[in-house]
Amino acid sequence: MFLPSGRAPVSDFAPIVRIPPKSDNPSGAGEPPAFLSSRPVSKLIVTLDGPGGTGKSTVSRVVAHKAGLPHLDTGAFYRAATLAVLDSGVDPSDGTEVLRVVSRSRLAQESGRMYLNGRDVSIEIREEEVTAAVSAVSAHPEVRKRLVDMQRAWAEAHGGGVVEGRDIGSVVFPDATVKVFLDASPEVRARRRALETGEAEAAVLEDLSRRDRLDSTRAASPLIIPHGAVVIDTSDLTFDAVVDEVLGLIDAKS
Ligand code: DC
Repeated sequence: MFLPSGRAPVSDFAPIVRIPPKSDNPSGAGEPPAFLSSRPVSKLIVTLDGPGGTGKSTVSRVVAHKAGLPHLDTGAFYRAATLAVLDSGVDPSDGTEVLRVVSRSRLAQESGRMYLNGRDVSIEIREEEVTAAVSAVSAHPEVRKRLVDMQRAWAEAHGGGVVEGRDIGSVVFPDATVKVFLDASPEVRARRRALETGEAEAAVLEDLSRRDRLDSTRAASPLIIPHGAVVIDTSDLTFDAVVDEVLGLIDAKS
């Protein structure tokens, strides 16, 4: 297991609070559930960190939707920056050149789409070439600083939200209202990814392990369990159970 010690025992989880279905929500379609209405959304930042293949992206999107909060996928920022680097022919390990390319690139995320210099690159950033180079690009501290500034500006402009990534609860928003760390065994993560992408499970496991190693051992903002985060091991949990667990944590802080 690549993670540092500190995995929370299952019995430490907050009790699951069931969120009323839409029909029980008199505030109407599209409105945040009642439990959120008593506090200003601007104060609410929910962070979801964890390695790839834990279901983090889908969970955070669904949690954001159900809680009526905006959603930010910070991995997509690092992927779009990597695409810019690859497009310009720069070596992803050359920090100075990478920073030069990223500094003159316009990165934006709106309504679940990722834009690079005004172009929708949401599909392209998931390609193998980008995935292979993203750990090298995201290891440069100056690049991270730039992207972290953009992520904080996004939260400011949107009045908070659900933000997913690798260093969100530890570095980007250390004072977040709710911090979650999603984990799962490498085998389960590889199986889920392989089902999603159609790739061979063994190849996915190898790539995930490589990225786990790079992401958790890099000097700048490594993947760690943030202080104050609730760890949820999703290996044996259904998707709905994980979503309910996170919504329960938000409810408990409202
Ligand atoms: O979540 P993802 O697989 O799309 O993220 C792609 C890469 O970006 C991941 O390998 C590590 C990096 N990343 C990061 O360093 N910090 C973040 N906050 C989010 C992603």
